[in-house]
Amino acid sequence: MSENTPKLRSALDGMPAYVPGKRDTAGGPVAYKLSSNENPYPPLPGVQEAVAGAAASLNRYPDMACAGLLAELAEHFAVPVEHLATGTGSVGVAQQLLQATAGPGDEVIYAWRSFEAYPIITQVSGATSVRVPLTAAEEHDLDAMAAAVTDRTRLIFVCNPNNPTGAAIPRPALERFLDKVPAGVLVVLDEAYREFVRDERVVDGLELYRDRPNVCVLRTFSKAYGLAGLRVGFAVAQAPVAAALRKTAVPFGVSQLAQDAAVASLRSEEALLERVESLVGERTRVVAALAEQGWPALDSQANFVWLRLGERTGDFAAACERAGVIVRPFAGEGARVTIGETAANDLFLQVAETFRKET
Ligand SMILES: Cc1ncc(COP(=O)(O)O)c(C=O)c1O
Repeated sequence: MSENTPKLRSALDGMPAYVPGKRDTAGGPVAYKLSSNENPYPPLPGVQEAVAGAAASLNRYPDMACAGLLAELAEHFAVPVEHLATGTGSVGVAQQLLQATAGPGDEVIYAWRSFEAYPIITQVSGATSVRVPLTAAEEHDLDAMAAAVTDRTRLIFVCNPNNPTGAAIPRPALERFLDKVPAGVLVVLDEAYREFVRDERVVDGLELYRDRPNVCVLRTFSKAYGLAGLRVGFAVAQAPVAAALRKTAVPFGVSQLAQDAAVASLRSEEALLERVESLVGERTRVVAALAEQGWPALDSQANFVWLRLGERTGDFAAACERAGVIVRPFAGEGARVTIGETAANDLFLQVAETFRKET
C-alpha cells in the first residue's frame, strides 16, 4: 500500500462484489426482468398515495424509531413491539446483526450456495465465513452446519426457503438443528420468501423464536409486498437481540416514504394474499411445465425456480436474453429464474424447452 493513500481495512481486500440482477437486455426484444426475485405487480393499493403524502415532508428526517410501522407490525404479527427492529431492507438488518455479534476472529456459518450477500456482509464485519455445502438435493445440510460450530461461531444464517435453490426446511429438521446450536450463537432465520411457502411441513420462524432467545427471524417488504425499491425489512427476536439491532442501525436509515408505504402495504392484506396466490399458481405451472420438458424434478417454495445447468449456465442465460428474458446465472452452477407475469413465464418456458431439446 502506498503511503499516500488512506489505510483501508485489509478485511475488504478481495471482497466479492454483489452482482445485482441485470436490468436490461443489450438492445434485444421486450425485456422481462426475472433476475432479482422482484414482484411483477405494482405497489399494493394505497401505497402510492402514502408515498406521495410522505413526499410532502421530504425536508424532514423520518421517524427514527419507526414507531408507526413497529406498532403496525406488532399488531399484524402478534408480537411485542420490543421484539421488533427495522432496517434498510432485510440485508440491512442482517448487516446490523453481524455488527452486533461478530468481528475479527469470529466465525459465521451459512450454507453454500445461498444468498450472495452473506459472504459480503460477513467479510465487511471482519469475521470469517464458514460455508457448508448444500446437499445433493440442494438443501441445507443442517447436520454438517451444526458440526461446523466452534467456540468462535457467533452467527449462523439459515435461508428458508433458500435463495437460489428454493428448497425449504421442514419443522422437525429445523428444530433438531436449533436444539444442537449452543445458546450463545445467534441463528438468523432469513425468511425473505416466507409468504410464498405452501409446504405445510415448513415452520414459520415466528413460531420458534419465542422459546429460543438465540433465534432471530428476518422478513422483508421487498418480495411479496413488492417494495424492493424502498428498502425496508425487519427482524423479530427477543428483546436483547432487538435492542442490539436498534444500537447498530444507521440513524434515520428507513425513510418516511418506506415506513408509510410499509404500513399501507400491511393494511392491504387482501390484495397481497391475492397476488401471492397468483404467483404461487404461476410457480406451480412453471414447475410442472419444466418437469414435462424433462428438467430434473425441482420444488420451490419461493418466487423463483432453480435450474442446475453446470457448465451450460452461461449459454442458457444468453439464450434467455436473446428471447427477451433476463435470468440470474451463477457461472458453472445454475440459473435462478424469478416467477414473473404470465407472459414472462411463458417466454422463459419456451426458451427452456428449446434449450432442453438442443443440448
Ligand atoms: C434470502 C434473501 N434475504 C434477504 C434478501 C434481501 O432483501 P431486502 O434487503 O431487499 O429486504 C434477499 C434478496 O434477494 C434474499 O434473497
